[in-house]
Amino acid sequence: MNVGIIGCGHIFSTYIKAQEYFNNINYVACSDIDMDLAFKTAEKNNLKPKTVDELLSDNNIDIILNITIPQAHYEVTKKILNSGKHVYCEKPMSVKYEQAKELLKIAKEKKLYLGNAPDTFLGGGGQLSRQIIDNGDLGKILTGNFIFAFPGVQDFHPNPESWFQEGGGPVIDMGPYFFTGLVNLLGPAKNIRSRGVKFFDKREYRTGQKKGQNFNVDIPTSYMFNLEFENGSIIQGFLSFDVQNHKRNHIELYGSLGSIVVPDPNMFGGPVTISKELGSEWVDLSVEEKPLGKTNIINDRGNTNEAPRQANYRGIGLSEMINSIENNTEHRCNGELALHVLDIIECAKISSETKSEVSLRSTCERPNSFKDQEIKKLLKN
Ligand SMILES: NC(=O)c1ccc[n+]([C@@H]2O[C@H](COP(=O)([O-])OP(=O)(O)OC[C@H]3O[C@@H](n4cnc5c(N)ncnc54)[C@H](O)[C@@H]3O)[C@@H](O)[C@H]2O)c1
Repeated sequence: MNVGIIGCGHIFSTYIKAQEYFNNINYVACSDIDMDLAFKTAEKNNLKPKTVDELLSDNNIDIILNITIPQAHYEVTKKILNSGKHVYCEKPMSVKYEQAKELLKIAKEKKLYLGNAPDTFLGGGGQLSRQIIDNGDLGKILTGNFIFAFPGVQDFHPNPESWFQEGGGPVIDMGPYFFTGLVNLLGPAKNIRSRGVKFFDKREYRTGQKKGQNFNVDIPTSYMFNLEFENGSIIQGFLSFDVQNHKRNHIELYGSLGSIVVPDPNMFGGPVTISKELGSEWVDLSVEEKPLGKTNIINDRGNTNEAPRQANYRGIGLSEMINSIENNTEHRCNGELALHVLDIIECAKISSETKSEVSLRSTCERPNSFKDQEIKKLLKN
């Protein structure tokens, strides 16, 4: 199947690498609202440059990868579906729940596949954690907590404004990884209580041409919440752009027979760490031997929120969706899952504004676990 790409920005280079890892992704053309960028990107990556409309009317293209900005996902995905092509979109599905719901309806009516990132839960860390929880080794997961907290992108991004405006913020930016990871492990969520805080009205640009000047902060930059899942687990969360540094684990879950530290849901690797009864040692379980767990990136960017060595196999969700289209099966990074995750995100905001517990409007099936043998069939070599 041939894949066209819309959006030639920052994440493009990560996705283009996916055709080196997976045997069924064949990128043929790319497009961007900025056609100069599309031409340059096409030339560098041996693709055909096309306008969005040319891409959508090209009968040679079966699937479009939508890696535009979150605020454009709804409009671009809708156009793709209406052109009769399957779509795989970056997170979030849209910036509004009702819009995403409409996209899913269109996809179903047209019998097209709608896939959505994140696909990180398909990695070695996410799948080993899932296996341990499903085996019952830790008993029933009762409680837990998660955190993503750093000072904000203004330290290294020259244009950080959109992270601090409507449609941005820590919950919509990082929430998809945590909520998707938790739904993979625990099943769908039921309700949320949340508190969002904006500590400062302005922030300073720390890099680029505007360094030293200030920009406006329109939305809360720290959120604390607790989520009740349909299976009865209660999980506490903290997502923040107001923390200089911290030493907590990304996700810790506490079961009736033991505890688990789930690795970074923004990445694919491990280790997964478990401990049983009180006082017993913590055991690291490596995922380096798992097909989507092996370290493949050495990162020298020095961001304190990113591990210097990591496993990144973004694009497996697209590859798995292509395989599902070919075999007429349900894909794991599907629209129902992404819609439910967006529901959690939007309800976090509603709960904070109304100062009350909010019941989610949606539910979804827990995606099937992803066995090593299934993954190996999609890998090159
Ligand atoms: N940057 C990352 O590290 C990262 C990581 C994971 C996921 N993502 C997700 O990937 C997506 C893209 O992020 P990015 O960092 O590459 O953004 P970016 O701003 O660097 O690139 C987005 C590109 O989309 C183009 N675009 C915007 N609206 C368009 C439209 N209507 N039609 C055609 N092209 C349009 C822009 O011109 C730009 O080149 C986002 O959804 C983001 O959440 C980014």
